[in-house]
Amino acid sequence: MNSIYHVKQFDDQVFGLAYRPSLAPERSDDTDFYGEFYRPVPREFSAANQEVLRQALMETPDVRCILEIGVQRNPLPESSTGILLRNKAANAIFIGIDIEDKSHLADESRGIFTIQGDSGDRSPVYALMARLGIAAIDFLFIDGWHSVNQCVADWRYVERLSPRGTVAMHDTNVHPGPVLVFDAIDERLFDKKKYCTEGPDWGISVIRRK
Ligand SMILES: C[S@@+](CC[C@H](N)C(=O)[O-])C[C@H]1O[C@@H](n2cnc3c(N)ncnc32)[C@H](O)[C@@H]1O
Repeated sequence: MNSIYHVKQFDDQVFGLAYRPSLAPERSDDTDFYGEFYRPVPREFSAANQEVLRQALMETPDVRCILEIGVQRNPLPESSTGILLRNKAANAIFIGIDIEDKSHLADESRGIFTIQGDSGDRSPVYALMARLGIAAIDFLFIDGWHSVNQCVADWRYVERLSPRGTVAMHDTNVHPGPVLVFDAIDERLFDKKKYCTEGPDWGISVIRRK
């Protein structure tokens, strides 16, 4: 359990979480970052983050569908999006959802789709999956808005995670949403591990179904 925040636990049912975490009312559950615990990082998505993400993808069997929440803000080669697109199987579908327009990446002939919208609304993603005949998400990468409420909402896509699917989540060192959601993940259902916890790095985690 991370101790940098004073966390409250509510027993609302969110699949895969042992409890719903909250920082309210002392802090807003809609804030991406409080600025404290900050150590400047040389690169937002570090080389070590890139390697953890690549490995996690490679170790996930039969990846037919990748969902990325929070798409390419960094130069493509060093962004999470670049890693996922470079390493996905040719026949795998990539869906990226971002509040901003990332349609410059879309290429249906290569199975690359982008959705502009708030990731908290899962319906456009599920509608696209239905249109493409995809029942489950095999690899979910969460790196959108890092508030507690948004990360809990983003975690809800796990309801569609395939039985051998993987979740990776960026910014698990200090950002409130990822830190609290990581701690709340139900260890009876999932194995979870933090990486890049030392040094100037935002951190990344990998979560797999047991
Ligand atoms: C940290 S950046 C992602 C960086 C990316 N992983 C990379 O390596 O370049 C976060 C992204 O989340 C997007 N975002 C912010 N709020 C969002 C929301 N409510 N729904 C979807 N995307 C959101 C931002 O537009 C931004 O592109």
